[in-house]
Amino acid sequence: MDTFLKFAAELFAVPADTISLDTAYESIPQWDSLAQLRLVAEMEETFGVEIPIDAVPDMKTLRDFYRYIDGEEARVEIPLSAPNLKAPEILGNLRECVESGLVSSSGRFIAEFERKVAAYVRSRDAVAVQSGAAGLHLALRLLGVQPGEAVIAPTLTFIAAVNPITYVGAEPVFMDCDDSLCLDPRKLERFCAEACARTDDGLIHRETGKRIRVILVVHVFGNMADMERIMDTADRYGLKVLEDATEALGSFYEKGRFAGKFAGTIGDAGVYSFNANKIITTGGGGMIVSGDQQLLAEARYLSATAKNDSLYFAHDAVGYNYRMLNIQAAIGVSQIDEIERFIETKRANHQLYRELLGRRAGIEVLPFSEMIRPNYWFYSLAIDGERFGEDRDALMNRLIAEGIQCRPVWKLCHTQKPYLDAPRFAIETAPFYERRILNVPCSTSLTAEDARAVCRAILK
Ligand SMILES: Cc1ncc(COP(=O)(O)O)c(C=O)c1O
Repeated sequence: MDTFLKFAAELFAVPADTISLDTAYESIPQWDSLAQLRLVAEMEETFGVEIPIDAVPDMKTLRDFYRYIDGEEARVEIPLSAPNLKAPEILGNLRECVESGLVSSSGRFIAEFERKVAAYVRSRDAVAVQSGAAGLHLALRLLGVQPGEAVIAPTLTFIAAVNPITYVGAEPVFMDCDDSLCLDPRKLERFCAEACARTDDGLIHRETGKRIRVILVVHVFGNMADMERIMDTADRYGLKVLEDATEALGSFYEKGRFAGKFAGTIGDAGVYSFNANKIITTGGGGMIVSGDQQLLAEARYLSATAKNDSLYFAHDAVGYNYRMLNIQAAIGVSQIDEIERFIETKRANHQLYRELLGRRAGIEVLPFSEMIRPNYWFYSLAIDGERFGEDRDALMNRLIAEGIQCRPVWKLCHTQKPYLDAPRFAIETAPFYERRILNVPCSTSLTAEDARAVCRAILK
């Protein structure tokens, strides 16, 4: 704590005894410094050590701290969400790419992976790209978002979901979540009714005067947003819906109007991610699905630098180098065959966490929507510090120190530096979950024994 105050005093060039913890927290202008100072202060308190001032600038993550204390990397004995690449077929496929030299954007695996994912989610077609963010970028552009417009987006999400709105020159209008952690459909409806005007030029956000064409829905942690209400609102106001299903490949509605429909296939377009922490991975990668064949054809064209002629390299538009590589897809074709097995493991471990933690006051293992068959991608605990007897961050730091990797939910997008001035609407529930959520190990290689060890450590 002393170091924290000394560091804050240095930052403001005032004597250390004139600065208090509260004034330091409130007046430090840079988020990075603030987060760093908080980390150092918390670590000093938890471990009863003092970090010298000159070491503070290097303390950017918990790992840096452990390295400082232990003089080595922190042990990670139970990872949060590790890829599962055990299928022997993967090495065979990679060998084929290497031996044939087809390691880049040609080769049989790309089309095969697209076909398999499309068949799995019951979409007519799919376009593989370099990342989920690239897929979202293309989809926003192809859904017609223009520079100077606004896109409705949730604040509780990974910033990579929202940044593509900026890439197309538009601005997010941030919305709240409900208890599913996904976009609150009632507030969305209220926003359209109260904060926007229907005009001949479409829906206009009154505060900024910007036109809104698209709602970006994120299916957070494998749960699914209330698509019935969201699609009704979209229809009522003439809006298109882009589903960020990067975390929800495999989740589908079991009940209601969309029964049998997979995340990503309900709106106008949907995007998956195959980043290493996702339910299946290609190292990095993404895929766009849509019922609109034209949109997919344009996505394919733009993702391959808008090449009209591959001999003379003629291009009729400014495209992107977003095509997936054959070596990525070589992993993907095996991974997609395993997805249902992965989901079953995740379901069983989620159930175990619920059984083992369910009776303890102050902890809730957040459920998935009863309307869906989720992919159980990420497990979220909501920690009520007072009732549990330990607050979320103290619990998190204790678990990390024991080699159990866990993490808080993302800092809300509307409070991130690039979006401090972005418009927002009635955000009340997201900050509650931001303070409470702890994501705990959920890898498909997590054994029941590991899950029990995590629960024992939590309940200690
Ligand atoms: C909600 C969300 N949106 C977008 C992305 C971006 O996907 P990618 O990392 O494949 O670009 C991710 C994850 O990485 C995500 O979790």
